[in-house]
Amino acid sequence: MRHLLTHIAIFTIALFLIAAAALFGWSRSAQLVITDEATVLAGFEPMPEEEFNWTQLGAKAYLRNCANCHGREGEGWDQYPALGHTAPLFESPGGRDYIIDVHLYGLTGDRWGVPMPPMGHIHDIEMAAVINHVLTNFGNEALLDEDAELYAPEDIGPRRGQDLSPAQVNERRLEVMGVEEE
Ligand code: HEC
Repeated sequence: MRHLLTHIAIFTIALFLIAAAALFGWSRSAQLVITDEATVLAGFEPMPEEEFNWTQLGAKAYLRNCANCHGREGEGWDQYPALGHTAPLFESPGGRDYIIDVHLYGLTGDRWGVPMPPMGHIHDIEMAAVINHVLTNFGNEALLDEDAELYAPEDIGPRRGQDLSPAQVNERRLEVMGVEEE
């Protein structure tokens, strides 16, 4: 009789655990639908004639995608450059396109021991927001032209599909801008 009771108890506990796991799985998948990334990002997409409201999205996207390498305040560390020179690059001839290419295809040169990885998986809306965040922070705000035209989501798409390697982006860096090595 004792054995039978033990079996029933263990069986009940097992059933309970299975039910709890199923419930957990269900709640997680339900939650995924609610917080679907495209839906969240679509909330930031400007309507025609509306200004692109990128400030909050840009700050979040920076922390999520860039801060681990470039530092929370874009200060850089070890093999990762600080980002305070981005505005002058952006303002150079060809710089507007070049800065997008760095983010889509990565960058590698002799300056740093590691490459900047391609980040083309970032959605156009988030990409425009995060680059605008860099251009208006980390010291760039003081260097940026007062009437500089920042990025809109529709600027990013046309730069996709070029299939560049990080080394080719570096050639572009040297040839398009003629910037000096730092
Ligand atoms: C895995 C580390 C890593 C991540 C993540 C990363 N970067 Fe970089 N980034 C680098 C390195 C390394 C370089 C320097 C590459 C070189 O000059 O050869 C660089 C260079 C840059 C430059 C300077 C380009 C130039 O021509 O001088 C900018 C701007 C930049 N990153 C922005 C970003 C932004 C914005 C993000 C997030 C969306 C990001 N990076 C994510 C490692 C990273």
